[in-house]
Amino acid sequence: MTTLRTEGLTRRFQGLVAVKDLSFHLDAGEILGIIGPNGAGKTTFINLVSGITMPSSGRVEYKGRDITYMPAHERARIGIARTYQLIHPLENLTVIENVMIGSVFSRGKSLKEARRSAEAICAELELDRLDRDTAKLSMLEIKKMEIARALANEPEALFLDEVMAGLNSDETKQVIGTVQRIAAERNLAVGVVEHVMGVIRELTQRVIVLEAGELIAEGPYEKVSKDPRVIEAYLGGAA
Ligand SMILES: Nc1ncnc2c1ncn2[C@@H]1O[C@H](COP(=O)(O)OP(=O)(O)OP(=O)(O)O)[C@@H](O)[C@H]1O
Ligand SMILES: [Mg+2]
Repeated sequence: MTTLRTEGLTRRFQGLVAVKDLSFHLDAGEILGIIGPNGAGKTTFINLVSGITMPSSGRVEYKGRDITYMPAHERARIGIARTYQLIHPLENLTVIENVMIGSVFSRGKSLKEARRSAEAICAELELDRLDRDTAKLSMLEIKKMEIARALANEPEALFLDEVMAGLNSDETKQVIGTVQRIAAERNLAVGVVEHVMGVIRELTQRVIVLEAGELIAEGPYEKVSKDPRVIEAYLGGAA
């Protein structure tokens, strides 16, 4: 079943076209990689599907419903969650409070219910000592907390924007396993932006490649990584 779909999605910032005529679909139970060089439009694309940014043209559909101009808080309520490339834990709150925020505001849960489900999610992510101030957390714990906060929303579609950045290889492996497990258990539609290709290879079943806002390739990682246009896009960016 297709959870999320876009058609001809375009976002201009003055003269710059950050996302151009992008059509894609994301299915329940699927982990999709969203890759491309710096500035390719990956974060803008996540902003467009999560409602942080509105499109200049095109369409966004969630479970068959047109949500193109639906505000972000409503999208969160109907099951679209995301993490942020620039992490922003609320530092005067504890871990559990940071996670509860997801469900208190968007799901309208009571504090007691929100705490109970936040505790269950943290246990699932092996995040403990939940009454700590977030200023004292390691990078791995911060990343887990960001994922936990998104999950507290009870999403059906989840977008992770460079959630592995800043983690070492053991920690990255751990988070890959966690994301696979939570996605499978919940039959989530997951979109993952990552720069480390080893992560994309291991984690995703399918990949879309963006360059200068345009979709230039789509398919399993093994296929797109051999596509001359994709290689050129990455080499061009590095030169
Ligand atoms: N609010 C904005 N105003 C103007 N330009 C923007 C805005 N947001 C993004 N852009 C531009 O849109 C383009 C795409 O940016 P975006 O952040 O989506 O890329 P990205 O693929 O996520 O890059 P990175 O891999 O570095 O995170 C860039 O040229 C960026 O400068
Ligand atoms: Mg980005």
